[in-house]
Amino acid sequence: MQVVGPELDIRAQCEAILRSLPEWFGIEEGLVHYADATLQLPTFALTEKRNAVGFISLNQHFPESSEVHCMAVHREHRGKGFGRVLLEHAEHWLRGRHTRFLQVKTVSASLEDAAYEQTRGFYARMGFVPLQEFPELWDPHNPCLQMIKGL
Ligand SMILES: CC(C)(COP(=O)(O)OP(=O)(O)OC[C@H]1O[C@@H](n2cnc3c(N)ncnc32)[C@H](O)[C@@H]1OP(=O)(O)O)[C@@H](O)C(=O)NCCC(=O)NCCS
Repeated sequence: MQVVGPELDIRAQCEAILRSLPEWFGIEEGLVHYADATLQLPTFALTEKRNAVGFISLNQHFPESSEVHCMAVHREHRGKGFGRVLLEHAEHWLRGRHTRFLQVKTVSASLEDAAYEQTRGFYARMGFVPLQEFPELWDPHNPCLQMIKGL
């Protein structure tokens, strides 16, 4: 296993990972957006024999603060510690650039959704704390929770 990035040209592999997770990436427009973003944003991928099993894309809004734009581990490889490896690698890279805060926006608990409950559980385990809920940032059926951690 090897982490590669932050400049990658493996859009198709990232798209395949997203397509393995329809509970999270079931909206085609969103899926294409996240796959395209792997070509534009700093992205790290965890690869096994040159095949990506997971990736994380980062959006640097300000020098001091960044955002997890998208992160996904292929369904067959979830729960094996790969998400932690990817996130910790990204955090190390950001610290080296003097970035102090990392945020992520995900679906809030106001919407009952077993899939996103797992996502929030992962981010909480990785040290993110809820900062603010934005009920209508995306749309009223998709309430947003902003989580943040200090680097
Ligand atoms: C979220 C995701 C990236 C995490 O990657 P992963 O490889 O499955 O997670 P890991 O196995 O590295 O887990 C890391 C830690 O989080 C913990 N964790 C994971 N899910 C958890 C949950 N639902 N509740 C509590 N802890 C959780 C693990 O137990 C592990 O803890 P440890 O390292 O202290 O033992 C991955 O599961 C995924 O792609 N999910 C679907 C898409 C998604 O939610 N993407 C993010 C938002 S768009």
